[in-house]
Amino acid sequence: MAYVRKDVGTLTPSERRRFVNALLELKRRGEYDEFVRMHVDFYTPDGETGLRTAHMSPSFLPWHRRFVLELERALRRVDSSVTVPYWDWTRDRTTTSVPWTLDLLGGNGRRSDRRVTTGPFSYGAGHWTLKEGVTDATYLTRDLGRAADPIQLPTRSELQWALDDPVYDVRPWDSTVTRGFRNKLEGWGRGSGSASWHNHNRVHRWVGGAMLGGASVNDPVFWLHHAFLDLQWQRWQRAHPEHRYLPAEPPGPADDQYHRVVGRHEKLPPWDETPDQLEDLSGIYRYA
Ligand code: CU
Ligand code: CU
Repeated sequence: MAYVRKDVGTLTPSERRRFVNALLELKRRGEYDEFVRMHVDFYTPDGETGLRTAHMSPSFLPWHRRFVLELERALRRVDSSVTVPYWDWTRDRTTTSVPWTLDLLGGNGRRSDRRVTTGPFSYGAGHWTLKEGVTDATYLTRDLGRAADPIQLPTRSELQWALDDPVYDVRPWDSTVTRGFRNKLEGWGRGSGSASWHNHNRVHRWVGGAMLGGASVNDPVFWLHHAFLDLQWQRWQRAHPEHRYLPAEPPGPADDQYHRVVGRHEKLPPWDETPDQLEDLSGIYRYA
């Protein structure tokens, strides 16, 4: 029987408390920081050599699907009633709407140093010291909406633009492609500045602070964001049932993406599963 991932705005007060408490318990045990470390380790951009599994590649979606599931399994070992909620940023678009409430993730960072001073993950509350992937500040930071140079969250129509593309991904399978659902959702665009950030990337930018860069897992909103992206992959699959993860076969030796991206039936490090096996997890969880 599949369990349910809910819209964060629909969680009851008790569900909110249990989700937050399970996160704090993983942090206390040191398990949470292992997730931060793993994401830092797999933050390989396409300008570097080597296999790209998590970002700037077709496996962006299955990699993060598996990553969210791993966190969810850890949360459910703490409290078996907990699932990862999703944040619909096309609807909850302000700096005071969910998930930025005191009973969930707390609010914006303060003006002077972006430090989050409210909610369960504030430095002052004493349970959320950043340990991985940070150089100076060990407190959580946010700059919601980027006060000094404002940007907006992606709109429903921008998300729909990604969902409407029937092709999963196209060669050269990296951050430069202008077609395909994967990069329209991941959001590497042309040009410079905020106009070049779409959907997934734009949300990381909008939150700012710790959500920028490889250590973005330090802000627990990471999971709510990626659960919503995972839901979009499922929506895309249902809208285009004749289309699947690409590439079906890994690029060959003559291809400059040889050994750089994961084919449908290749294992997706560090997991033991292939994109093919991760395309349908509806036996494990579903979205409400
Ligand atoms: Cu990521
Ligand atoms: Cu992300």
